[in-house]
Amino acid sequence: MKFLGIDLGTSSVKIIIMNQSGDIVDSTSKDYDVSFPKEGWAEQNPEDWWESTKQGIKELLCNGNIKSEDITGISFSGQMHGLVLLDKNEKVLMPAILWCDQRTQKQCDYLNNKFGQDKLSKYTGNKALTGFTLPKVLWVKENKPEIYKKIAHMMLPKDFISFKLTGNYSTDVSDASGTLMFDVENRKWSKEIIDIFEIDKEVLPKVYESWKGVGNISSQAAKETGLSTKTLVMAGAGDQAAGAVGSGTVETGILSVALGTSGVVFACDEKFSVDRENRLHSFCHSNGKWHQMGVMLSAASCLKWWVENVNIDIKEDAFNKLLCEAENAPVGSNKLLFLPYLMGERTPHNDPNARGSFIGLNITHKRGDMTRAILEGVCFGLRDSLEILRSLNVEVKEVRVSGGGSKSKLWRQILADIFNLDVLVTNSKEGPAYGASILAAVGCGLYESVDEACKQLIKITDIVEPIKVNVEKYDKLYKIYTPLYSCLEEKFEELNKIEI
Ligand code: XUL
Repeated sequence: MKFLGIDLGTSSVKIIIMNQSGDIVDSTSKDYDVSFPKEGWAEQNPEDWWESTKQGIKELLCNGNIKSEDITGISFSGQMHGLVLLDKNEKVLMPAILWCDQRTQKQCDYLNNKFGQDKLSKYTGNKALTGFTLPKVLWVKENKPEIYKKIAHMMLPKDFISFKLTGNYSTDVSDASGTLMFDVENRKWSKEIIDIFEIDKEVLPKVYESWKGVGNISSQAAKETGLSTKTLVMAGAGDQAAGAVGSGTVETGILSVALGTSGVVFACDEKFSVDRENRLHSFCHSNGKWHQMGVMLSAASCLKWWVENVNIDIKEDAFNKLLCEAENAPVGSNKLLFLPYLMGERTPHNDPNARGSFIGLNITHKRGDMTRAILEGVCFGLRDSLEILRSLNVEVKEVRVSGGGSKSKLWRQILADIFNLDVLVTNSKEGPAYGASILAAVGCGLYESVDEACKQLIKITDIVEPIKVNVEKYDKLYKIYTPLYSCLEEKFEELNKIEI
């Protein structure tokens, strides 16, 4: 028995093969581009995802060790919220509008202010954010009526791959939660939203729990990929829910923090609950429970920006050199603060105009202070979500960290000190893809439940404890960091509007 975990990300699709004991026996990754046709827009061609996925699967099957009949199940992790539209001939109608696309501010203002945030929250558990799917649907209706008329199928990114593999239209509860058309509490499409916005229910995919089978590989897909028609495909999950499974974040008290391109603070909950102000997203988890989540739009990407756009003169090993300088800088970066809003911000400010900033520079600061301030600023931003969880009395005992940024021991220590919590690393290196393969294994009956699979497979490999003196210093600095956004909010807006 082998299981394929397909993680359809924003910059690449990663595919892993997990064996019956939970070991990853092979993996591959295929890149594709994001296009930014206008400021704030972000699009991808769903056919590029499919081409890359096909290539990846074929490559893994050609490597020789795995036969297609050995693959019992396949499941997914997917970039969330993106809108994929097909016509009645199952052809893609327009490029997918991605989670990070900001074109829908007008539709969000209408939904939150005119339609009403309270009503939205009552029906879906969430408020409208530019990244979510319903505002994108309304944008298409308003701006591309000729396309809107032709919509026969609407789906999320990973569901397009599932459709290509099985011929069936399906989605899962965790990904559907980010559409703003989903009744998160009752784990079904929201009748009210669908009726009020006159969305034809037939265009929406059937919803499944993440580990449930949605169909077998179709004969067409078998021809195109080399997979067997005996292989079962499971619904899968949104990338954060799949990543949480991959790190064993399946019980109350465990907090998963992803230091990826975006930064995420994810708390599992046995019951559905929603913050009255909707500062956090309230979504279904992929293990039958729920979760609350805060999402920062730029986390590890802040360091990437610093390395690749600013410190371009460092030719070799730039990440390590800069991190080494940061390690030698003092805690608190000599009183330098960094606001990590390089692509606007989602949680807690929900403001596409927000901008990144260094605050407190003086003549003594060195590059090491600046690099360290970036690492600290990202963790302060994540702490904003932690503080909301704490204010809602969500139990938090430990942090499980994942994503590219978590490879840095320094960043993990800063996170432990700023959160004042133990930061744990797990054996799962492939986070969301590993979560996807676990969902496939559960769907094929290898484990009784997702929680049971995590109990058996996820092991803690490292623990970073907070250092008391650092915690005290960071507490003082966090008090200064938190109000900085409100001090600058208006100026960020003016800056974005000004013609120069
Ligand atoms: C979650 C979210 C991101 C994207 C891209 O709300 O927007 O996780 O799915 O990774």
